[in-house]
Amino acid sequence: MAHNHSPQSRPGQSGAPRPSPARLPHIRNILGVGAGKGGVGKSTVAANLAISLARSGASVGLLDADLYGPSVPIMLGLRGAKPTVNANSKIVPAEAHGIKAISIGFMIQDDMAVAWRGPMVGQAVTQFIRDVEWGELDYLIVDLPPGTGDIILSLGQTVPLDGAVVVSTPQDVAFADVLRAVKMFGMLQVEVLGLVENMSYFHCPDNGKDYPIFGPSNSDRHCAEHGLPFLGALPIELGVSPNADKGRPIVVAEPDSKLSQLYVQLAADIAAKLEAKRAAADALPEFGKDFFHDAVTEYEPPKG
Ligand SMILES: Nc1ncnc2c1ncn2[C@@H]1O[C@H](COP(=O)(O)OP(=O)(O)OP(=O)(O)O)[C@@H](O)[C@H]1O
Ligand SMILES: [Mg+2]
Repeated sequence: MAHNHSPQSRPGQSGAPRPSPARLPHIRNILGVGAGKGGVGKSTVAANLAISLARSGASVGLLDADLYGPSVPIMLGLRGAKPTVNANSKIVPAEAHGIKAISIGFMIQDDMAVAWRGPMVGQAVTQFIRDVEWGELDYLIVDLPPGTGDIILSLGQTVPLDGAVVVSTPQDVAFADVLRAVKMFGMLQVEVLGLVENMSYFHCPDNGKDYPIFGPSNSDRHCAEHGLPFLGALPIELGVSPNADKGRPIVVAEPDSKLSQLYVQLAADIAAKLEAKRAAADALPEFGKDFFHDAVTEYEPPKG
């Protein structure tokens, strides 16, 4: 991976180097799922990925970082769940489908609008990471909001994200927004593990043909041009939305569907990438870890 910046001159910075946020010893891997564009399926990917990782035997948390439009409570069937505070003054996350979850949606009513001022966003994100009794987690999956705003910047300054997955759809306009997200992760020194193209095609069960509803896919070519790993294409599946609205992600509702099988594969691929990264960092002597972590997480922003 390209590393053109010394630790003293990193992208998006001026003056003294910003210290890396401290790792959380009880959370082995923190993975952000994001994109520039809204509605491409980030939350759907985050939830199905989290459940697939849990089904492979890992302990997994899902953090809904979309403070303005939380969707995790509905997607996991946790509408109305009210997290409690334990004797250590920590928030106890809700649980569903074998994963722990926290969302601002548990703390506000469904129709309540939340107007966050800048510093409040930072505080909320910090609380969701540090003041929640996550226990020992192999993976904390963070469902990021659309755009490249405050929430993601606050998160990147609160904890070291071990990686990010970006989600796109076949349209070029979606990829253009993804590039903005990739650049932002680069500024935060978060390695983008790759891109998932969602809603790539519809597989017709009647005639066995694949229909590219949103036009032909260019994501793998775009990824190659920008040095971004392509993690795969996910089909449109009719069961996704109605089941999600009932709190049943597709890997729970239709585990044998093609989409669910692709999620299981995606989870395994991402786990392998994160573990390889962690093993490389763990193999270093103590004094080299910080520098190495910065070096391997720094993604060279794509040109153009
Ligand atoms: N592969 C798929 N097949 C069919 N429907 C899908 C698929 N992926 C996502 N959807 C549906 O598309 C809609 C948008 O998905 P989702 O809420 O995950 O997007 P998002 O990127 O998180 O949106 P936002 O930017 O608002 O947070 C939902 O109704 C979801 O059920
Ligand atoms: Mg979402």
